Amino acid sequence: MRTVDWYNGKVRMIDQKLIPWSLEQVEFDSYQAVANAITDMTVRGAPAIGAAAAFGIALAAQQTPGTTASELIENLRPAAAYIRAARPTAVNLMWAVDRMMAIAQNEQASSADDIRALLLAEAQRIADDDVAINKRMGAYGAELISDGDTVLHHCNTGALATVDYGTALGVIRAAFEQGKKFHVLLDETRPRLQGARLSAWEMEQLGIPYDILPDTAAGYYMQKGEIKLCLVGADRVCSNGDFANKIGTYQVAIMAKEHGIPFYTVAPTSTVDLDLHSGADIPIEERDKAEVLAPYGHALVPPHFHARNPAFDVTPNRYLSGIVTECGIIRTPFVENLKAAVGERR
Ligand code: MRU
Repeated sequence: MRTVDWYNGKVRMIDQKLIPWSLEQVEFDSYQAVANAITDMTVRGAPAIGAAAAFGIALAAQQTPGTTASELIENLRPAAAYIRAARPTAVNLMWAVDRMMAIAQNEQASSADDIRALLLAEAQRIADDDVAINKRMGAYGAELISDGDTVLHHCNTGALATVDYGTALGVIRAAFEQGKKFHVLLDETRPRLQGARLSAWEMEQLGIPYDILPDTAAGYYMQKGEIKLCLVGADRVCSNGDFANKIGTYQVAIMAKEHGIPFYTVAPTSTVDLDLHSGADIPIEERDKAEVLAPYGHALVPPHFHARNPAFDVTPNRYLSGIVTECGIIRTPFVENLKAAVGERR
């Protein structure tokens, strides 16, 4: 079952708010509802958000009046702006919307209906490519894992964070499919618990040995010499290799360096934003404090208590051993090597 797909003229998604307690799909018949599902994290994870956005534009094109290409394109602009604003940090969202709008703009000579069909085909291509790219990254990255290793992972980067298969968890999955014997430690990832709820659920499905860790425990196991490798995903990688990922990634990176543990991010080139030259420029989402005070509605403290809830942090490139992409494992110098990888994709 794909995390997001097109079904009967609607956008269908696994409702990630319900996992691990129940596996249910929800269907959306308006682009506004698709954008809201991105905002409320029914669908989350940078590549899955990108695919959802692409299907959202395809859906908007079906809903939008217009008989000529230029009418349709004009009418699609508000939908593109609305979907783009659903979440600020994962650049896959903007990448997908821009790619979809470019398809429409390049087809000015076609009829509006032709463009509607092309947009749907393009969204399907983005989704299909995502799965193929994840498998390629898995094949490249699996060489980083050896028999007997313990691998630390942060947040959820698996099938649920993508259309299928996963990025960092895709590497773990590929190594497991190759028959390697290793153990995974999953940071629980407060406040939304993507590690405990989603990554652990995926490990259960795949039969990969794992333990959930309180976020505060990673340093303890690094100090004991148990952790041999850290793998995380990314929401936006800058041209110099600085990258944003789920809050808490930065402290994992610092601890890994202190203990001499290799630390990799696994990200498709659609997550690379060559227009941003340093992590300081990445917009970081601040979410509702209720997610900290009362995760999933379970009050930990009275609701009037104060809290902050940054959803992402930025890890400077100096902590990175490398970036696993569909073009191979990229190492320093990141500026040259990322540019070449993105060029190869184009
Ligand atoms: O807030 P989320 O759950 O969308 O954050 C997800 C992450 O930070 C992932 O690590 C990242 O999107 C990469 S997913 C392959």
